[in-house]
Amino acid sequence: MNLRTLVTFAAIITGVLTAPKDVHLIAKSDNKTIDGVGLCSIRESLTVSYMFLGTGIERFTWETTNNTFFDTTVSDMYVAYLQRWGNLIVVAAGYTDSQFTVSPCNYLVVNGSERVFYAAKSTNDPANYSSSYYQVLYYAEEEDAPDDSIPFSVYVESADTTSSSIQTATLYSTDSSS
Ligand SMILES: *[C@@H]1O[C@H](CO)[C@@H](O)[C@H](O)[C@H]1NC(C)=O
Ligand SMILES: *[C@@H]1O[C@H](CO)[C@@H](O)[C@H](O)[C@H]1NC(C)=O
Ligand SMILES: *[C@@H]1O[C@H](CO)[C@@H](O)[C@H](O)[C@H]1NC(C)=O
Ligand SMILES: *[C@@H]1O[C@H](CO)[C@@H](O)[C@H](O)[C@H]1NC(C)=O
Repeated sequence: MNLRTLVTFAAIITGVLTAPKDVHLIAKSDNKTIDGVGLCSIRESLTVSYMFLGTGIERFTWETTNNTFFDTTVSDMYVAYLQRWGNLIVVAAGYTDSQFTVSPCNYLVVNGSERVFYAAKSTNDPANYSSSYYQVLYYAEEEDAPDDSIPFSVYVESADTTSSSIQTATLYSTDSSS
């Protein structure tokens, strides 16, 4: 480990680096069907996109100061935020409340837990994409999740790396100019 790596590592641990980061959201699950699959929203109506697994990989800007995640490519007119609407995980305008945090191991936390995401098909989404793809749903209690849905956690990964958190740390040290 060279000196810069050590310094970077220390900075990560103490949370010194707070610049916005480009990230991907990745499903982590015991179930191989969805483990490692990227999250990507699809437009269901004029202003709302629902989150799905396996339809692509969406690049979010993670504003670490207030844990907002937004996709700058959705609209020039508004900021499209990742948010929870009841049991739906959507990308839409109008973010009002702090809903997400990120654990020290870089997992998305909602309502104090990482184990709150479920992949479900045939959810009756407006555009019926869930007949083919797994939609991302939120449930605080597993017993409330639909039968046959697959529980997973959401890993927040640097968009510039593929797996190792050490790689991620090094990358942030090079990228972070502020
Ligand atoms: C993974 O989920 C699919 C779909 O629900 C299911 O058919 C399969 O049995 C699950 N695999 C494991 C190992 O639980
Ligand atoms: C989050 O913080 C950024 C940077 O300070 C700010 O521009 C943005 O408006 C904040 N978003 C919300 C929803 O508070
Ligand atoms: C959704 O798609 C499935 C599979 O193509 C089809 O069986 C179902 O009728 C569709 N549902 C609606 C509401 O269009
Ligand atoms: C948050 O979690 C608690 C405990 O599991 C649950 O009772 C509550 O309904 C959850 N809130 C939301 C908004 O899901």
